This record gives sequence, structure tokens and C-alpha cells, in this order.
Amino acid sequence: MSQITLALDVYGTLIDTNGVLLKLREHIGNKAEAFSALWRDKQLEYSFRRGLMNKYVDFSICTQEAFTYTSLAMGIIWKEKDREEVIGQYRTLPAFPEVAEALKGLKAAGFRLFAYSNGSRKAVAQLMEQAQLGSILNGIVSMEEVQTFKPNPVGYQHFIQQTESQIEQAWMVSGNPFDVIGAKAYGMKTAWVQRNPQRILDPMGYAPDRIIQHLGQLAEAIVTP
Ligand code: 2OP
Repeated sequence: MSQITLALDVYGTLIDTNGVLLKLREHIGNKAEAFSALWRDKQLEYSFRRGLMNKYVDFSICTQEAFTYTSLAMGIIWKEKDREEVIGQYRTLPAFPEVAEALKGLKAAGFRLFAYSNGSRKAVAQLMEQAQLGSILNGIVSMEEVQTFKPNPVGYQHFIQQTESQIEQAWMVSGNPFDVIGAKAYGMKTAWVQRNPQRILDPMGYAPDRIIQHLGQLAEAIVTP
């Protein structure tokens, strides 16, 4: 097999952003689900807007600003230590349960594996180490290096250059529709990890090459024409 390079999105693909739910539930009970969903939506929106405005900040700032917005929108007032505790969860989010085994299998099958994220290199490296994925990966590519956010095509191009890949052999693997669509529009191959069957792929004219439910299905999906 000629070598295929995988761009593995981090938040929502390797790493479960709902991991904050437990901590949120301790503080705000049954409002936790709604809080978590709005927080995540706003975090992404702020990254898109900062990208368009050419006002890059570390992705963790988008996370913090989105937390402030969500708290205001839902009328929740936090003690400083609780706010820090909840936002701090973002640095220790767990991997989805199948990820470690799936990545080991992909590595053994000859795929090159890179975490590719809006998150800073330091934040991603920390998450990968905690989830014991660091030693399986060939490396990390962060949007920090180009000071903007996905789905700017500059980022996907940077990924191809950094990993010395050929675009026709490079797959963006993401649970985030915006990321799949962005990579497809740039010209990469794409696999959408549709973890939730209710999740809708935005009808923007860029269908993924493969749709899988979890990463354990990835190798077979890619090699099956
Ligand atoms: C990422 O890790 C935001 O999920 C997105 O780049």
C-alpha cells in the first residue's frame, strides 16, 4: 500500500468534548447538557469569526470567551474557582473509548497518523499524552503554526506541507462537519466520523468520501473502494 496520511481532528474526533459534562453537572445540574452544547457551538463560532477577522488568539481563548458568553446567555454566575475548575477540564478531556486501539491498528496497517487541530501544539500534546496516544502518532500539526483556524484552506495546505504528504493520499478524518467540508473543498480525501446518527452534514455541496460511526471502522472504509 502506498502510504496514506491521516489528519486526525482532535476535539470531537479523538477527544470527547462532552467530558466536561460531569463537572458541569456537579455545578449546574440539569442545565449541563444545554450549557455544554452552546459552549461548544460558540467556541467554534468564535474561532471562525476570529479567522475571518484576522484576529488570531490561542484556541483556549475562544474556549474561555465562549464559556463567558454561555454563562451570560443562561444566567449562570460562577465563583472564580468553579469557573477555573470547569474550563480546566478542557485540558484533561478523555479520548473516545475506541480511539487507542483503533490508532494502534491503523499504525500497524501502515497509515501515517497525525493529530491536526485548532488547539495549540502544547494543548494537543498534553491531551495526547494523557490519553496515551502520543507514542502512537507520527506527529502533531497545529493551526497555531499558521495563526488562523480551520476551515481556512491555508491550514489544510499547511498540513500537507508539514507532513510531506501527497494530497491524493491525505485523508481528513473528523467528527466535525465543518472540518470535513473544509478539507474536501481544499481537495483532500475525507472521512466523517458520524458518532451521533442524529448529526447532520451541512448541505453545502461537499460530501465526504466515507462515513463511519467510530474510528474502528476507518481502515477498512479507506481501503474498500
Ligand atoms: C479541532 O480539534 C476544533 O475540533 C476541532 O481542530
